[in-house]
Amino acid sequence: MSTPGAPLPTYDWEPTTDFLARKYGLPRESIVRFDVNTSPVPPDLRRVLSGPFFPVLSEYPPSDYNDLVEAANLAYGADADELLPTAGADEALDLTARAFLREGSVAVVATPTYAMYRIVSEQRGASVVAVPRLGADDGFALDIAALAAAARSAQLVWICEPNNPTGACESRERIAELLALIAADAASDGRIAPVVVVDEAYAEFVGRSVLPLRFEYPRLVVVRTLSKAHALAGVRVGFAVARPETLAPVVSFRAPASVSTVSAALAGAALMRPDLAAANVARITEQRTRLIRDLAALGWAPYPSVTNFILIRFSSASAAASAGEELLRKGLVPRTFGTGHPLADCLRLTVRSEEENDRLIEVARGIRA
Ligand SMILES: Cc1ncc(COP(=O)(O)O)c(C=O)c1O
Repeated sequence: MSTPGAPLPTYDWEPTTDFLARKYGLPRESIVRFDVNTSPVPPDLRRVLSGPFFPVLSEYPPSDYNDLVEAANLAYGADADELLPTAGADEALDLTARAFLREGSVAVVATPTYAMYRIVSEQRGASVVAVPRLGADDGFALDIAALAAAARSAQLVWICEPNNPTGACESRERIAELLALIAADAASDGRIAPVVVVDEAYAEFVGRSVLPLRFEYPRLVVVRTLSKAHALAGVRVGFAVARPETLAPVVSFRAPASVSTVSAALAGAALMRPDLAAANVARITEQRTRLIRDLAALGWAPYPSVTNFILIRFSSASAAASAGEELLRKGLVPRTFGTGHPLADCLRLTVRSEEENDRLIEVARGIRA
């Protein structure tokens, strides 16, 4: 719970490329972001920016984002009244926290995971109950019994699927089992079931979604984004997807027109070209296999991944920190986890283009795991 007047928790943004170039005395163009899980090759949407589809910049976007929602309807298989376009998945997470959490609420987070769930929950004054995932030997799987038990006193449960930063995923059956347990518990106590958010930012990399479960568990909110498989992180478009009655309070917190006309046009065009995202996923999957193989051959210890990033375990937290620093000195930016984090002995590396991955392997050759 927040103390009145205490600073609210905030997201520590990654240092900028310019900052790192200055700090390490490197040319800006030589810096490669292996830390932010973006895709290096954007889709070719020049037609949208130059052709008759170019949005009217002097006007606000239509309040129903009709074209974008229609494209999302085809892409995700959800009805128009189940789809809320947002400024990236992050806005969907924030709006969901605003809709369902307040001072004194409880939010459950399956950890280790994406930092924003804790941040947006605590910003609303909720207390966060962390339920650790099982260990690496169990594929970082969700502890379903512990999550269901914690959910008994919660208003919101946050799950990242596939999970950032472990890169692992659950079967839809296990998520269904968790939702059924939570629903049964709530029904037997006569409580309203908590909202369960499944953040599917990386869903395209596994080619499946838990969205169909919204009919069995109407308090499910699924979050999607154009930032990862669609390679449009700079465009800032995501969605909250839920049954209309669950989505309604989320809708009411979005500022009018938070997604710009330009972003809506680009995202709509990208969603109408699933072949481009599929090609990107295929390219990344091939590069991921190759990176894992090459890093393992150097004596590094990458975990299996279904996403566009790889978690790598080092012999100690200090070995991870010095490997991170070595990479940075060569302009390759890894994601590190601070002291005290359960993954402090790990680095997370985004799968990038073939040439950038080559550079990574070359530099990694000289670094002890
Ligand atoms: C799990 C997860 N959710 C959401 C986001 C943010 O996505 P967006 O760029 O759509 O705000 C990220 C970005 O790294 C993420 O890893």
